[in-house]
Order: sequence, then structure tokens, then C-alpha cells
Amino acid sequence: DPEMVKAGEKVFRKCKACHQVGDGAKNRVGPILNGVVDAPAGAVEDFKYSKALKAAADGGLVWSEEALGEFLRDPKGFLKGTKMSFGGLRKDSDVAEVIAYLRATAE
Ligand code: HEM
Repeated sequence: DPEMVKAGEKVFRKCKACHQVGDGAKNRVGPILNGVVDAPAGAVEDFKYSKALKAAADGGLVWSEEALGEFLRDPKGFLKGTKMSFGGLRKDSDVAEVIAYLRATAE
């Protein structure tokens, strides 16, 4: 839904302090997020993840919409020890829209 994607691009402003996405994206404070929806966690080359995220990745965590939604609502609640210092998205619509945006970046 192009409207969802457009709204998600606005929500993504909250992520841009730390993340890049799209052509030419580079790792910054956080890893690039190209194609992250439905991808295994902790899989970006050359990014130094926290021990917590590496352990979750070793345990088979995949960023399904459901897992990603929980993480984005409450990063440290979902993944104790993560170094993603972000308070979380409060609105269900923001979560759905930013996931739609991230999904679109993989196409
Ligand atoms: C990790 C998304 C905001 C810093 C991640 C991951 C996702 C994500 C999906 C896991 C990536 C992977 O497994 O490869 C988002 C979204 C945001 C957001 C959608 C906005 C809604 C932020 C902000 C910061 C940040 C504002 C910095 C203050 C990080 C860091 C990691 C990370 C450092 C690595 C975590 C670790 O190794 O424990 N983010 N993020 N993120 N993010 Fe964010």
C-alpha cells in the first residue's frame, strides 16, 4: 500500500539518527536496514552487534513482522542488553507503517 509506505517514511525519521536504508546506505550507529523484514537478525556484514543481539541471532531470531513489531515497541524489553538506545514506538500505526516502509526498501 503506497500510502502506508509513505507514512512509514515519515516514521523512519525517528530512526535516521542511527540507521540508513536504500541505495548507498552505510552502517552508522545502527546497521543498514535494507531488506531486514523477514531476514535473520544480526546478519549485516561488518556491523558490531551487541552480545545480546548476537545471542538472539544464534538462537535463530528472524525479523518477522511480529518480532520486529515487538522490538520496535520496546527494544530493551524485547531484547535485554541490546545497544539500540531507542525508547520505542508507541502507536500501532507507526509500527505498521515503518514496517511497510522497510519492506518496500527490499523491493
Ligand atoms: C538494531 C530498526 C531506531 C540504533 C536495529 C535492528 C532493527 C532496527 C531492525 C536490528 C537489525 C539487525 O538485526 O541487523 C530500527 C527502527 C528504528 C530504530 C525501525 C526507528 C523506529 C534506532 C535509533 C538508534 C538505533 C534511534 C540509535 C539511538 C541501533 C543499534 C542497533 C540497532 C545500535 C544494534 C543493536 C544491537 O546490536 O543490540 N534497529 N531502529 N536504532 N539499532 Fe535501530
